[in-house]
Amino acid sequence: MLNIVIFGAPGSGKGTQSELIIRKYELKHISTGDILRKEIEKHSELGLLADKYISKGELVPDELIVGILGTILDENKKIKGFIFDGFPRTLKQGEALDKMLREKDTSVVAVLNLSVEENELIQRLLKRGEISGRSDDNMETIQSRLDVYRNQTEPLKEYYKKQGKLITIKGDTIEDVFEKITDTLDRML
Ligand code: C5P
Ligand code: MG
Repeated sequence: MLNIVIFGAPGSGKGTQSELIIRKYELKHISTGDILRKEIEKHSELGLLADKYISKGELVPDELIVGILGTILDENKKIKGFIFDGFPRTLKQGEALDKMLREKDTSVVAVLNLSVEENELIQRLLKRGEISGRSDDNMETIQSRLDVYRNQTEPLKEYYKKQGKLITIKGDTIEDVFEKITDTLDRML
């Protein structure tokens, strides 16, 4: 299976690139952020809980997120691969993902690290906030999301680097980044 983690700070383009990747490589897109936002819209119990964390820019507890992931992995058995977008967010989640995939005799094959300057991230998120209606695309929450990213998520880079899976991608435009991603994935296939 072609299981890919799309990695990067908030605003680095994970969702945008995932959409392009699934079209070309026929993978299943799993965006934990999108899943949580749908639960919030439904006013489900999970949504109510998640909203408390998301609106502050904090992370939903690992057990909850890992549980959601486990269910999705079980539901999608006959596919070419997954693209994990916004997950894992912590070392614990990374380890849990490896374990869940190992139990299915598969693994993460590549981690695409989208590298974007912090100023650019903030500009993009503020701009997105004007149209997205997302409760977390405002200056205060953006700052805490960036802090959370640096403190809790960035250590995963080292984790995947040690496994030889980290591929850093830097580009100026959506097309430019996608071209670099396809170059990388085509070489692996
Ligand atoms: O991935 P995305 O940026 O859409 O996530 C939005 C928010 O959802 C995060 O800031 C966080 O509050 C929550 N989230 C989480 N754990 C994840 C993914 C998202 O807590 N694995
Ligand atoms: Mg996203």
